[in-house]
Amino acid sequence: MIPPEIKEEIKYRCDIVDVISGYVPLKRAGSNYNGLCPFHSERTPSFTVFPSTKSFYCFGCGAGGDVVTFMMKRENLDYRSALELLANRAGIALPPDEKNETPVGTVKRERVLNMNREAAKFFHSCLYSPVGAAGLAYLTRRGLTGATIKHFGLGFAPDGFGALTDFLQKRGYTAEEMSAAFLCGISKKSGRPFDYFRNRVIFPIIDVTGNVIAFGGRVMDDSVPKYLNTSDTPAFKKSRNLFALNFAKSSCSERMILCEGYMDVIACHAHGFENAVATLGTAITPDQARIMSKYTKQVVISYDSDEAGQKATAKAMRLLGEVGLDVRVLRIPGAKDPDEFLNKNGSSANEKFRLLLDQSRAGFEFRLESVLSKHDITKVDEKIKAAEELCRIISEVWSESEREVYIGVVSEKLGIPKESLAGDIKRMIRSRDRSEKNEEFGEIVRKTAGFGDRINQDTVKNAAAVSAEENILGIMMLFPENIGAVKSGRIKLSPDDFYSDFNRRVFEEIMERCDGSRLFDYGDLAEDFNPDEMGRITSMIERRRPLTANGEDVLSDMIERLRAEKAQKRFSEAGDTRSAIEDILARQREKLKKR
Ligand code: CTP
Ligand code: MN
Repeated sequence: MIPPEIKEEIKYRCDIVDVISGYVPLKRAGSNYNGLCPFHSERTPSFTVFPSTKSFYCFGCGAGGDVVTFMMKRENLDYRSALELLANRAGIALPPDEKNETPVGTVKRERVLNMNREAAKFFHSCLYSPVGAAGLAYLTRRGLTGATIKHFGLGFAPDGFGALTDFLQKRGYTAEEMSAAFLCGISKKSGRPFDYFRNRVIFPIIDVTGNVIAFGGRVMDDSVPKYLNTSDTPAFKKSRNLFALNFAKSSCSERMILCEGYMDVIACHAHGFENAVATLGTAITPDQARIMSKYTKQVVISYDSDEAGQKATAKAMRLLGEVGLDVRVLRIPGAKDPDEFLNKNGSSANEKFRLLLDQSRAGFEFRLESVLSKHDITKVDEKIKAAEELCRIISEVWSESEREVYIGVVSEKLGIPKESLAGDIKRMIRSRDRSEKNEEFGEIVRKTAGFGDRINQDTVKNAAAVSAEENILGIMMLFPENIGAVKSGRIKLSPDDFYSDFNRRVFEEIMERCDGSRLFDYGDLAEDFNPDEMGRITSMIERRRPLTANGEDVLSDMIERLRAEKAQKRFSEAGDTRSAIEDILARQREKLKKR
């Protein structure tokens, strides 16, 4: 346990506006700050920081909490590690983590990282022992030198079910831990752990602080699946990491090369292009785009020339453009990917590849060219199609002045007045914004109706009772004197009054943490609730904040309502849900107006 006064000190010195500004450009709006949410993709800012309560909340996706929760969510850390990071920033020393208490059922990030490090060493040593001969031969055949293999810490997972598992078990790791780290599966028949990676060459994935966070494993023949990758673990979130960013981060300030595969990145680095990274076996995510924008100004997309690669290119262009990067696309003549190109061109590979990079076309030119090559614009209907496609492409461009430039180019190419093109593009943008809003609405409908409410699973059974609970908890947290009123018994409310397990837990934690001797800090709940749950808890506060009636009388009313709803134990009715949604929307609109 970290003493509360140290936590307070850390939060006091790490001003939430300062910390979040390091990740999200914030604009002042009255007494609060707004910006584009770092946790979901959006065009109009619904992410708000409240200096008065030292909290943040996104009205779009429901992420919220205090500065510690922000770091947990943004950097994918557990509570203690997030606090540690902030403590470092503030120059405060934390007392050592004596017990390293692992709550039952959850495996800690630190533990997974240590295990991964051991596993990486094990795989690497296998590659250089007789069992790994086939792996070493494979990598050598693909043109990798010993130096490159060492640099990337490549390894080999032996064929068999217990090589790594036995090794880790001897070092004190349990089956539960190994399975949480995605290093083993658990046999349904025997209940015993077995190696997940078998007879594959191994690519460790290392984060920018040097932790081994995941692995990719490739077969050495044509069997499938070609690659196995670590799924999300307590130490790894696929959508938020990039392969080789640990190396690239120091040489990519001007330009970064985005490849599709591990082997492409390795070939690039081996040929001196140490600014290459890859997404991890999935299409690029908005998070990855944002991360790249923190490190570089320009991204050259170097995906495979096949259809899948080209599709992925279009998506990457859009996401990278949205975060303000100068996006370029590489065309590689005579090879399907950078790995093949670099290996094919012998001693001149480096020079030739550099030339390609410098000639890489701006994303827009690349797309303009591919649209024009598809349509014969001397024919009227073809010309209309081409114009429409190009307008759509331009409508996805974030910056207005950039759009102006492209409109000029297209106008000249197609002989269509700029004004007409601009009008079409405006319409497309508006209609997309509308459909984004509709999506948001749908999201609220789903949440309110309780479908897919992963945080409070009881919502689906009695939305009205859960809503009353959220009001009660919101009032209590927003005005902690209400907690005092419950403590003293002036207002009668006990855990038994709660309908949903989740809200009961929140209530119990609040009561336990508020001993009357110090101020209640709702952010401390992050010790017991994960970041998603913290978002829900913050939303309870934010729902009450704009309302003027948050006193004891309202609290008592809500408690009565909860008791009545709970007594009825009824299932949610359509009418009810609808009015609840309309309620939420009206409140959101109100809030937007005020801002
Ligand atoms: N990938 C994956 N799972 C698969 C296939 C691919 O995770 N079953 C990911 C890997 O990260 C891989 C990338 O997608 O590196 C690109 O796939 P592909 O082009 O098929 O592989 P290469 O990286 O080109 O690998 P190689 O050159 O060894 O064939
Ligand atoms: Mn390849």
